[in-house]
Amino acid sequence: MQRIAIYPGSFDPVTNGHLDIVERGLSLFDKIIVAILHNPAKKSLFSVEERIEMLQASTVKFSGVEIDCFSGLLVDYASRKNAHAILRGMRAVSDFEYEFQLALMNRRLNREVQTVFLMTGLRWIFTSSSIIKEAASFGGDISDMVPEIVEYKLREKFGTEPKTA
Ligand code: PNS
Repeated sequence: MQRIAIYPGSFDPVTNGHLDIVERGLSLFDKIIVAILHNPAKKSLFSVEERIEMLQASTVKFSGVEIDCFSGLLVDYASRKNAHAILRGMRAVSDFEYEFQLALMNRRLNREVQTVFLMTGLRWIFTSSSIIKEAASFGGDISDMVPEIVEYKLREKFGTEPKTA
């Protein structure tokens, strides 16, 4: 039986921290489905199509990774995909409360699906898509925090050139 995990998120955009979790997850699971939540109510910088493109380009180096998008309940999507686990990355302590709440709600909704937390590499403890977008919007150099395609797309979106210290 294939061990399948869903790695859900907004991925607006994917960061090196996300890729670190994918890589760690591949040592536990045969297949990881990186699933972008399609949520028209949430304002995002990149469209779902753009996020899929960036994720596809930055995960070609891995085997066993599929990129998809979903709407509705995550546990229902996990069941449709025959996945038994939801994979989430844990960074600093500040992630804990929200992640705990999400995992417990998901367990309440479907007891068959387990949430697996992986600790992100120390390098990525303080990186997030939001802080990266903010830095990029003012021309900050975010090249060591995101895959090349994301750096390019962020520059294109904000019309900026990197500023170095
Ligand atoms: O990267 P994010 O934005 O923190 O990811 C949040 C995500 C997509 C995992 C979460 O919002 C989600 O699973 N949404 C789908 C609806 C759902 O099932 N919510 C949890 C139980 S109410």
